[in-house]
Amino acid sequence: MADRYLSFTGTAPGRFLTRRLGLPQPAPLERGAFSGGLLHLTAGKTDLDLAPVLARTGLGPDDTGRPAAVVLDATGVRDVDALAEVHAALHPVVRSVATSGRVVVLGTPPDPADHHHAAVQQALEGFTRSLGKEIGRGRTVNLVRLADAAHADAAESTLRFLLSPASAYVSGQVVEVGDAGGAGTPDDWELPLAGRTALVTGAARGIGAAVARTLAGQGAQVVVLDVPQAEDEARRAAERLGGTALALDITTGDAGERIAAAVPGGIDVLVHNAGITRDRRLANMPAERWSSVLDVNLASVLRTTDALLAAGAVNRGGRIVATASIAGLAGNAGQTNYGASKAGIVGLVRSLAPRALAGHGVTVNAVAPGFIETRMTAAVPLFIREAGRRMNSLAQGGLPVDVAETTAWLAHPASGAVNGQVVRVCGQSLLGA
Ligand code: NAI
Repeated sequence: MADRYLSFTGTAPGRFLTRRLGLPQPAPLERGAFSGGLLHLTAGKTDLDLAPVLARTGLGPDDTGRPAAVVLDATGVRDVDALAEVHAALHPVVRSVATSGRVVVLGTPPDPADHHHAAVQQALEGFTRSLGKEIGRGRTVNLVRLADAAHADAAESTLRFLLSPASAYVSGQVVEVGDAGGAGTPDDWELPLAGRTALVTGAARGIGAAVARTLAGQGAQVVVLDVPQAEDEARRAAERLGGTALALDITTGDAGERIAAAVPGGIDVLVHNAGITRDRRLANMPAERWSSVLDVNLASVLRTTDALLAAGAVNRGGRIVATASIAGLAGNAGQTNYGASKAGIVGLVRSLAPRALAGHGVTVNAVAPGFIETRMTAAVPLFIREAGRRMNSLAQGGLPVDVAETTAWLAHPASGAVNGQVVRVCGQSLLGA
């Protein structure tokens, strides 16, 4: 369903009226290409050799005074005095960041053994989230925590993503990049998934279809899995992408074994996207509504993941990306079943990630979409839909492609140092913020 308010505020009378009434002023997000360069700033005494990585992003140094991207290296911030350098670095330039531009702050994980370091590195999180809320004009602000400041390379895929139009709807996020151990560099940054097989559940339509399209666009051989009732849709989607369709209900007890049998060469990218809602307040919710949602959204993800890992059907260097939701982080009235299932995904990801990496060489992460323009959200009553669209820092809904691009970054061969992360694709929604 078209966002008419967004179109209206793009017109001169719309801009005038909404400004006079103090209403949200969403800017159309740039999802194509950036024009403008990069500004590299530092705060504190840094040991990080970031310049070579930034040079490879393709964004040249800004010489216009209107940077498309600003990177502030704050890994060397160790005390409150050095925090003042964060202010000093960004205060003079923040106004000049281009529309739909990017600000990325680089920090380190707060040191649990040093409360002064922990305090100021945690301070960067509050800073980032606050700037994200005020910066406006489609601009995003994110914090990347580098566990190993000696290995800037480990953050390359993450910086490329967060500094590009692909991260249009990702703001106010904190992403931790681990040590370089799991990072690999693809031969080809344009087609990083060439020669890899990706299986996406629930990919006949909606977000899953966009994920399949984006992964195929990056070179993956895609398997479009959906329920038997959606087989025709799944087959058409697969044909368009040069992939294959797999008609399978993922709640089937042996779904994992059947997937493994259908992909004999193993899976490189496994995207658990299939999900359902059966909303009702708890007092009115029959057991069947509870169990169907928990079964599709959580139990089948646990079952198939276990079966595929046990069978060695996820190749080394593989990526598992599961789908949570901001409802699983913030809770949502009428969605005790759905909120439980999606919070369960967060628990699964955080617990399994280190063991899957150690035992199988596979990373496990989650995307947590906010309000995404799909058939599901088009069916939401008008006022709730409008609230969902506006109650985020970008004052608009996201598109399926925004979730797909985030998934593609997590699925990237060079994202091996990104593990156990839950990344919201929500335009910095006020829910659960
Ligand atoms: P959708 O309803 O448009 O698509 C879901 C797909 O999953 C459908 O093709 C459906 O046939 C398939 N599916 C359902 N049960 C299945 C099963 N048992 N086995 C195999 N396939 C099955 O949903 P949408 O909006 O594309 O959502 C995709 C994911 O994103 C879901 O996990 C959803 O919970 C999550 N999400 C969506 C948000 C949104 O705003 N649309 C917000 C937050 C999370």
